[in-house]
Amino acid sequence: MKLTEAQRAMAAGDEGAAIAAAMAVLIEYGQIMGADSLIPITSAAGANIFGKRHFDPLGTDDPGRLFSEFSLNSDQAVDAPPVRVPSCQLIGPMDRINGGTVQGLTATQVGTTRNSQEYLEGLGVSLLSTCTPYQVGFLPESGDHVAWMESSAVIFINSVIGARTNTEGRESAAASMLTGLTPNAGLHLDENRKATVHVRVETDIPDTFSWNALGYWLGGVVGDRVPVLEGIRSTPDLVQLKQFGAAAASSGDVELYHIPGVTAECQNVEQVLVPDAEVIVFGDAEMRQAITKLNVTRTGDDIDFIMLGCPHAAYEQIETVAELLAGKRIAENVALWLFTPSLLREKARESGLLETIEASGAKVMSDTCPAIAQFLPPGTRRFATDSAKQAHYLPAIMRVEGAFGTTADCVTAAITGMMPSLSRTEEFA
Ligand code: F3S
Repeated sequence: MKLTEAQRAMAAGDEGAAIAAAMAVLIEYGQIMGADSLIPITSAAGANIFGKRHFDPLGTDDPGRLFSEFSLNSDQAVDAPPVRVPSCQLIGPMDRINGGTVQGLTATQVGTTRNSQEYLEGLGVSLLSTCTPYQVGFLPESGDHVAWMESSAVIFINSVIGARTNTEGRESAAASMLTGLTPNAGLHLDENRKATVHVRVETDIPDTFSWNALGYWLGGVVGDRVPVLEGIRSTPDLVQLKQFGAAAASSGDVELYHIPGVTAECQNVEQVLVPDAEVIVFGDAEMRQAITKLNVTRTGDDIDFIMLGCPHAAYEQIETVAELLAGKRIAENVALWLFTPSLLREKARESGLLETIEASGAKVMSDTCPAIAQFLPPGTRRFATDSAKQAHYLPAIMRVEGAFGTTADCVTAAITGMMPSLSRTEEFA
């Protein structure tokens, strides 16, 4: 890999041990990726808050030491300088308001998380603490090279915005924050952004539920390839694109997709499709398969917990849930948690939506999620969600049953304790 003179000096330690450690991470990563060079980026998004599983092997909860070890791969404590490009913390382990209460964290856990947060703030990292920073003003422009973690955010900014990132890991994203560089490989290169699978959609995709199911099927079929989808008769809104991409990146490793007239780099199929691409069809049978698979762990209809807001909810989704819950109470022994970026939670507080939702007994949560931080309401055996991504991960991570449905179905489950049956699959029978 060819480095500039300035980059060689950074790697040699001219700008300190932390920058040298960051350059070592990027050089090794770039060599594995087959990069020819390191290129400048305009932003980075990472996750650098640590917990007990990190403290125990290292014998310390010192955030600087943890950042050196787990973010920069350095067994020496290195003194990290401020980040060189706009950088944000993605999702973390703790709701900044409900961590010690609803989430049930101990005072020690709350304290150590706050220490980590203060450390990151000291480096200049913005504590947005959401998997959807692009919903709260932290977003690249089309064509920007960036270094972001979080599969649902990566697929959104690559596809919908037309920015360029690979799915970074903690170390590479942290190294990019400190250096403002990333390897020139993978989805930073034009040739890797071409579609290699042509998906013909032959059924209606009328609502967010269907976009979730389409994304879930797509990821399972295309894996890590780049698909272009043709034949969708409706125009998705941003919430639908958020849910669709998250689903495709959970059942598969899709980092970029194209839809003519919708995504940033695709006016028509011919513009993005390689010759001799595989053609696959999504019809009623595939829709039915996806919905069934998303309910595969469900053995009954009684529900203990409803998880909404994966990826973190948009403001319109908070409005929808508030409308569905207005004047109602959720059932005894049932919990409904709606996750959204903390900035949108504050907006919902100011507008009164938060009060409407919480008057029902539900909670609006931020900064974290059950799958990443591994927590549930005590006694949860079966949960309902309107997110294909959450329906995919939570049963595997937390050993609970999952039911996937519409947002309205999930709110009905919260109010009655019973999830409506899988009636949606019958529409595609
Ligand atoms: Fe976000 Fe957690 Fe879902 S990180 S995308 S709410 S699994």
